[in-house]
Amino acid sequence: MTHGARPLVAGNWKMNGLRESLTEAAAICEAVAAGGAGKAEIVVCPPATMLMATARICEGTKVGLGGQDCHAEASGAFTGDISAEMLKDAGATYVILGHSERRAGHHETDKIVRAKATAAMRAGLAAIICVGETRAARDAGDALSIVGVQLAGSIPEISPPGRIVVAYEPVWAIGTGLTPTRQDIAEMHGFIRDRVNQHLPGQGASMRILYGGSVRPANAAELLWIDDVDGALVGGASLSSAEFMAIAGIYTKSRKD
Ligand code: PGA
Repeated sequence: MTHGARPLVAGNWKMNGLRESLTEAAAICEAVAAGGAGKAEIVVCPPATMLMATARICEGTKVGLGGQDCHAEASGAFTGDISAEMLKDAGATYVILGHSERRAGHHETDKIVRAKATAAMRAGLAAIICVGETRAARDAGDALSIVGVQLAGSIPEISPPGRIVVAYEPVWAIGTGLTPTRQDIAEMHGFIRDRVNQHLPGQGASMRILYGGSVRPANAAELLWIDDVDGALVGGASLSSAEFMAIAGIYTKSRKD
């Protein structure tokens, strides 16, 4: 992190969490109120069934709420889908879009991700747009070009400043315990910032670019204190308030500690 953007640590609960997990959300709110995240912004993205209950817990706290996906349309005959407007109505201010699990499992193309991100802009949400290469693409030396294509296809043409966050999540690092080298992360994040600047002139410098994929308390400082890394998108470790806050807690320290 070199350019002064406020770091963001977002927890992606994926398809995990019943009402009993509300205690984890409450613990996160308490820890953040006690200064446990330093200057970082904290967002929790529970499953849709828990959005409104989590919103009640987060209300009046500094913890934000995000959805994990949205439909491109505002309303209509789309059984099972949820619109960006509905997420906003439920209390969300963020939505994760284009996660690799949706790109792979729900055949989401860059075009679909862009339509969803455009819907997020329309509804007044911030979009966390996920990009990342497969192991085969990295091994073939194609990581940058693949991510470049994903960015070009997924970022809406018109995005108010500050409302797009990019999460670099190498597919092979998600849930595996594997992570890229610091050098590879630095190279990719610098590349993403340049590319974003091409698509949204002037916004690249201030845009937050998160790293995601096997972020844990033990590797958080090593992964997140890298130039151009402005926070984390955390999956597995976000299900435990203690682990999640141990990750966010690196922002209570200065980079040199
Ligand atoms: P992980 O997931 O932290 O469990 O690797 C990250 C993500 O998929 O957002």
